[in-house]
Amino acid sequence: MNLASLPKAELHMHIEGSFEPELMFKIAKRNGIQLPYESVDALKACYAFNNLQEFLDIYYQGVNVLQTEEDFYDLAWAYLERAKKDNIVHTEIFFDPQSHTSRGIAFDTVINGLHRAFEDGKKELDISYYIIACFLRHLPEQAGFDIYPDILRHKDKIIGVGLDSSEIGHPPEKYQRLFAQAKKDGFKMVAHAGEEGPAEYIWQAINLLKVDRIDHGNRCLDDQQLVSTIIEKKLALTVCPLSNLKLCVVDQLKNHPIRTMLNQGLKATINSDDPAYFGGYINDNFEQLQQAIGLSNTEIKQLITNSFNASFLNEKVKAKYLAKLNDLGSVNTI
Ligand code: HPA
Ligand code: ZN
Repeated sequence: MNLASLPKAELHMHIEGSFEPELMFKIAKRNGIQLPYESVDALKACYAFNNLQEFLDIYYQGVNVLQTEEDFYDLAWAYLERAKKDNIVHTEIFFDPQSHTSRGIAFDTVINGLHRAFEDGKKELDISYYIIACFLRHLPEQAGFDIYPDILRHKDKIIGVGLDSSEIGHPPEKYQRLFAQAKKDGFKMVAHAGEEGPAEYIWQAINLLKVDRIDHGNRCLDDQQLVSTIIEKKLALTVCPLSNLKLCVVDQLKNHPIRTMLNQGLKATINSDDPAYFGGYINDNFEQLQQAIGLSNTEIKQLITNSFNASFLNEKVKAKYLAKLNDLGSVNTI
């Protein structure tokens, strides 16, 4: 049994970030949209980023071709087929509703396309899922309040809310009223924090937003008291190694802090973030990390175990997946 074939959960993946250039060109053509690139290769040549904002500029340009329910279905289905190859058995995906509604696409078009694909994925590919709607933090909190009734209206399809987009200059405190409302309404809550932003933003995500999980969280290592608090509160980190490399959060994969996180007792997990842009899906993240820092079988097993434990699945289903992992993933055989 090898690493690639072990069952795993993915907890940090933006569905718009799984939009492969080939599919982007296909959907653009179908919708009569001219992309500002001559070819798939010309587009891919632009995927070189010095920071989060340079990536986001390209990412928001990419979503512009998504218009119909079928487009959102196809986007999600492509991810699911790819996820199946990596033996993802459970996924909790993000989507950015404001990046679509701001272009005049109805919220229902987006969520209905995504939801139908994930329901089909559950039936046909045996992948369980939850959907998380993220607020774009570079927009005012009021813009989040404006879209919130749509999220609430689809609470049967959306388990939680998140916070993403440009981090620096947009601290979690900006969103505390909206997250308080979401908590009242029974949503799970996550937030990107400490990807580029300082440890203080992670403190705010915990203390002001009261998140259930921290997305990225790398910068917690700057503050030992914060590390202790994260451990005490049993908050997991959804870490994204290839994203960290491509967005220059780390200079080389061999300097990635994943081992330090595990050694300090943090519940870190491995995720792909925006796999179409960062050069790899979940198994690529594991494999490249394994090559760069020689992850041991025990560490791999710990990371995958964390992914199930940190998910929003109920305890019974978690136990079922963990039993399967333990059957297949005896430490000696990875
Ligand atoms: N960070 C912040 N916002 C995002 C990301 C990310 O990696 N991907 C899509 N939106
Ligand atoms: Zn992300």
